[in-house]
Amino acid sequence: MKSINSGFFLFMLFLFMCLVYLGIAIDPFSQSHSLKTECMMKPPRSIAKQELILLSRSVEDDSDQEWEIDENGAIREMTQRIQLQKGNIYSFSAWVKLREENDKKVGVVFRSESGRLVHGGEVRAKQGCWSLLKGGIVPNASGPVDIFFKGEDREAKISAKNLSLKQFSKEEWKLRQDQLIEKIRKNKVRFEVTYKNNTAVKDAVISLNQTKPSFLLGCGMNFRILQSEGYRKWFAARFAITSFTNEMKWYRTEEVRGKENYTAADSMLKFAEENNILVRGHTVLWDDPRMQPSWVKNIKDPEDVMNVTLNRINSVMNRYKGKLTGWDVVNENVHWDYFEKILGVNASSRFYNLAYKLDPNVTLFVNEYNTIENPKEVTATPIKVKEKMEEILANQGNENIKGAIGAQGHFSPTQPNLPYMRSALDTLGSLGLPVWITELDMPTCPNQAKYMEEILREAYSHPAVEGIIIFGGPEVSGFDKLTLADKDFNNTETGDVIDKLLKEWQQINSQIPNIFTVDHENEEEDVSLLHGLYNVNVTHPQIKNLSTSLCLEVTKEMGPRQVVRVVIDA
Ligand SMILES: *[C@@H]1O[C@H](CO)[C@@H](O)[C@H](O)[C@H]1NC(C)=O
Ligand SMILES: *[C@@H]1O[C@H](CO)[C@@H](O)[C@H](O)[C@H]1NC(C)=O
Ligand SMILES: *[C@@H]1O[C@H](CO)[C@@H](O)[C@H](O)[C@H]1NC(C)=O
Ligand SMILES: *[C@@H]1O[C@H](CO)[C@@H](O)[C@H](O)[C@H]1NC(C)=O
Ligand SMILES: *[C@@H]1O[C@H](CO)[C@@H](O)[C@H](O)[C@H]1NC(C)=O
Ligand SMILES: *[C@@H]1O[C@H](CO)[C@@H](O)[C@H](O)[C@H]1NC(C)=O
Ligand SMILES: *[C@@H]1O[C@H](CO)[C@@H](O)[C@H](O)[C@H]1NC(C)=O
Ligand SMILES: *[C@@H]1O[C@H](CO)[C@@H](O)[C@H](O)[C@H]1NC(C)=O
Ligand SMILES: *[C@@H]1O[C@H](CO)[C@@H](O)[C@H](O)[C@H]1NC(C)=O
Ligand SMILES: *[C@@H]1O[C@H](CO)[C@@H](O)[C@H](O)[C@H]1NC(C)=O
Ligand SMILES: *[C@@H]1O[C@H](CO)[C@@H](O)[C@H](O)[C@H]1NC(C)=O
Repeated sequence: MKSINSGFFLFMLFLFMCLVYLGIAIDPFSQSHSLKTECMMKPPRSIAKQELILLSRSVEDDSDQEWEIDENGAIREMTQRIQLQKGNIYSFSAWVKLREENDKKVGVVFRSESGRLVHGGEVRAKQGCWSLLKGGIVPNASGPVDIFFKGEDREAKISAKNLSLKQFSKEEWKLRQDQLIEKIRKNKVRFEVTYKNNTAVKDAVISLNQTKPSFLLGCGMNFRILQSEGYRKWFAARFAITSFTNEMKWYRTEEVRGKENYTAADSMLKFAEENNILVRGHTVLWDDPRMQPSWVKNIKDPEDVMNVTLNRINSVMNRYKGKLTGWDVVNENVHWDYFEKILGVNASSRFYNLAYKLDPNVTLFVNEYNTIENPKEVTATPIKVKEKMEEILANQGNENIKGAIGAQGHFSPTQPNLPYMRSALDTLGSLGLPVWITELDMPTCPNQAKYMEEILREAYSHPAVEGIIIFGGPEVSGFDKLTLADKDFNNTETGDVIDKLLKEWQQINSQIPNIFTVDHENEEEDVSLLHGLYNVNVTHPQIKNLSTSLCLEVTKEMGPRQVVRVVIDA
């Protein structure tokens, strides 16, 4: 039995490999199972998709043919390694169940010939019913891998069925993202411009401009924006939402006990308000012991710690009440427990409760790192972050909190594991609460622009994700990992990617001809519009005095198809 660095134990699964080109498997882009938290008595049937499936193992009968994977009990059928090709994306899925214990994590690990382990996903498995484990691998080298399951401890006895490993080229993966974007971020809209007598106004032109997109790609900012006109212009020309990296933090606003100084945060908020930029609050408290104001670290009396902490929450939340779109309340409270250690196990839940009472309308976030970006993470895994949110909401008085999950997204400068990220977002999204990527960045590396684009598209094409904030900026901002523009504010390659996506994710200045005919069902006349608010003008090249303006809101709630009728009084 091998023990690996994470403290997990591995169980070799001898695979019965068959290469089939058409098979039955779970679709990594399908939400039907992933947004459910419960496990299944019987894994549901899924529809076959015409995709390359490298491995597809199913058993008809639950009781006698499930695979038992335990320390001795590898499946004795046979073993053939699976050959992966660099440049492809592999999604993995399997239904798993525990035979003895209940409620333990089960993960999947890929081992390359060199012995390198890639963690590919995890699920909290139950005894007596099947849970869907999803994830995958984007190999950085071609070669064979073995697939393992890992339990939380040595004794874990795991059963698995319906294993599947699907291969996608990068192009196929992007195509699937785009199909999903079409479904989750857009509606079909049919415009009908008619005279009073119900005949179409031929040659009328409908001009559309999205004034407010509902999905926001924002950017963090810091105090240097107060000192640089160029930085301010650069920022305001692009972003509609921000958060301040440090300026609202306790160690900045109260460096000396009792001497609060909100000057920087207030000025930045003023700049944001003047430019219609929304602000996400970061952060009321931070559970990392190193990140307290130095004078707080020196307080010995827990009652005194409680007093100054309550004062901090009251002070910052009252000051910015009604001005922010959300608050990180106890930042990183899955990784850390500074307040819990001193003030008791429910300290975070109590602080969320106080935050809720102070500003009932503001969204309150759990905000963690490594959750979507690091498959090797053992502390703030998607399951644990989700459970932290559940624990907070379960606390008395917290039922009505507008909760949300922030996944920071500090990626490493290597090929991101997109199927893992997607499965992590599935888990976070299974609570039905909004998920935001809150601090997305990546150290400088030759492929930064490419990797960032892949990550951004993965997030945008996931239905649980409601917004993204990147932590980057022009050179003058000092965001030195994700530099988006040089000292003259000329874009870097990564800056070009951000500008491209900002443009793609907002519908600016489109014109459509009024091709409306009497056939209301003719879907070819529909246009596909991104969710958000629009300014619409109807004009006509000949009828000079025909000019109608209206506001249009395209939302998810309106269903997949909206009809807009404009009746011309002429
Ligand atoms: C599991 O395998 C069975 C038998 O092939 C199949 O009927 C079922 O649809 C599969 N389930 C999933 C979720 O792929
Ligand atoms: C693949 O990634 C691992 C971990 O980041 C690294 O150690 C290894 O050298 C990489 N291999 C190649 C061929 O780039
Ligand atoms: C409908 O009204 C318009 C403008 O008043 C007119 O040009 C058109 O001929 C009418 N069509 C019918 C079918 O009555
Ligand atoms: C619609 O017309 C108004 C007034 O002329 C103008 O300000 C606006 O930019 C136009 N909008 C579009 C989408 O063309
Ligand atoms: C469309 O909206 C963008 C941004 O909101 C604005 O800059 C542009 O002037 C608008 N165009 C028209 C024609 O209104
Ligand atoms: C408050 O903070 C601002 C900006 O960070 C600084 O310029 C100012 O000196 C501070 N005021 C006091 C009294 O420390
Ligand atoms: C904490 O605050 C309470 C109420 O304001 C006060 O009575 C108590 O003395 C304070 N405790 C400490 C240790 O300062
Ligand atoms: C919360 O928002 C609603 C509507 O958005 C408003 O009517 C209500 O007054 C707000 N409540 C508080 C406490 O600010
Ligand atoms: C913490 O909260 C849980 C759930 O509300 C409760 O059952 C438990 O007694 C609390 N523990 C303490 C030490 O307050
Ligand atoms: C930056 O762009 C400007 C034009 O916008 C150009 O004149 C200048 O040469 C560019 N600077 C560099 C360093 O590329
Ligand atoms: C628009 O112009 C037409 C003639 O081209 C005229 O019959 C009509 O009354 C005008 N409508 C308005 C609202 O001015």
